[in-house]
Amino acid sequence: MSALKQIEEVRTSFLTELDDVNQDLNQIEQFRTKYLGRRGKIASLFSLMGKVSDEERPALGESLNKLKNELNVLFENKVLEFNLSRQREEDDLIDLSLPGKQQRLGSIHILEQTLSEIKDIYRSIGFHIAYGPEVDDEYHNFTALNVPEHHPARDMQDTFFIDPETVLRTHTSNVQVHLMEDQDPPIRYIVPGRVYRNEAIGYKSYCLFHQVEGIYINETVSFGELKGCLEYFVKQMFGIKKKMRFRPSYFPFTEPSAEVDIWDEERQQWMEILGCGMVNPMVLNNVGYDSNRFHGYAFGMGVERIAMLKHKISDIRHFYSGDIRILEQFI
Ligand code: DAH
Repeated sequence: MSALKQIEEVRTSFLTELDDVNQDLNQIEQFRTKYLGRRGKIASLFSLMGKVSDEERPALGESLNKLKNELNVLFENKVLEFNLSRQREEDDLIDLSLPGKQQRLGSIHILEQTLSEIKDIYRSIGFHIAYGPEVDDEYHNFTALNVPEHHPARDMQDTFFIDPETVLRTHTSNVQVHLMEDQDPPIRYIVPGRVYRNEAIGYKSYCLFHQVEGIYINETVSFGELKGCLEYFVKQMFGIKKKMRFRPSYFPFTEPSAEVDIWDEERQQWMEILGCGMVNPMVLNNVGYDSNRFHGYAFGMGVERIAMLKHKISDIRHFYSGDIRILEQFI
């Protein structure tokens, strides 16, 4: 093979292989040794000098030097390019030593926390938990509870009407009726849920709020048991020293009826948290229970007011403002 042809061959294979040199420093070094090293392909081409005639030698020497220079430059460029692209890759990498971005954690709303405390307390003394409709007919919200149409007692709760016979429930007591219609006694339930009232908004009244209804029906149930149950609840919820009082009251669905007030340390006054009483025999008759055989007690408590007293929250509207500065205080 002629010397020129050999030079051309080395040049071609150098260029082809150089194209693939882009992985790591090891590969670059191997490539360099193969072509440009002391025993590399280019060095060995120089041994051709001894094999050609005197006339040919100068031209061959010139070609070889040219080749050597050309390939050296190409190789140096390749190394530069490789280093640059590695630098760019490193720039793109995430710096794990930087402090991370703060992620805000969600938390359970203070009302929901209060509700689950209430549920736990009643569950621990044998109550089951039930839920019922927020949109109900007038019969379940009023009539079956001994609040007939046009009776002044209906005005005790200002009502949102969906249509003339359908209301947003004004209390969770509607679920008492559903439960008793569906099941035979004995029954013992609490019913947490939202209720709605079209009344003047103030620090302790809002157009929607939460109640937990309680109902216990059996053959022998006394007012003393009702009192014991509610006292137990208040002590569990607020601590043994909390001041509370029972106050006689009136509800059409209970007889006798009472309300429970808790002493509000902040305002230095009593705050009503629940209504209760012995279930009126009229209500038992309405759901088809034998009111000579079965008796019961019932109560309905305001969850917002309990949370306000327990956590010193001054205004019921705070629960619904969605203000993160308020919510954050109860994580
Ligand atoms: N439903 C009454 C209210 O919303 C509270 C209440 C009073 C519920 C007496 C009862 C009860 O179950 O027996 O104010």
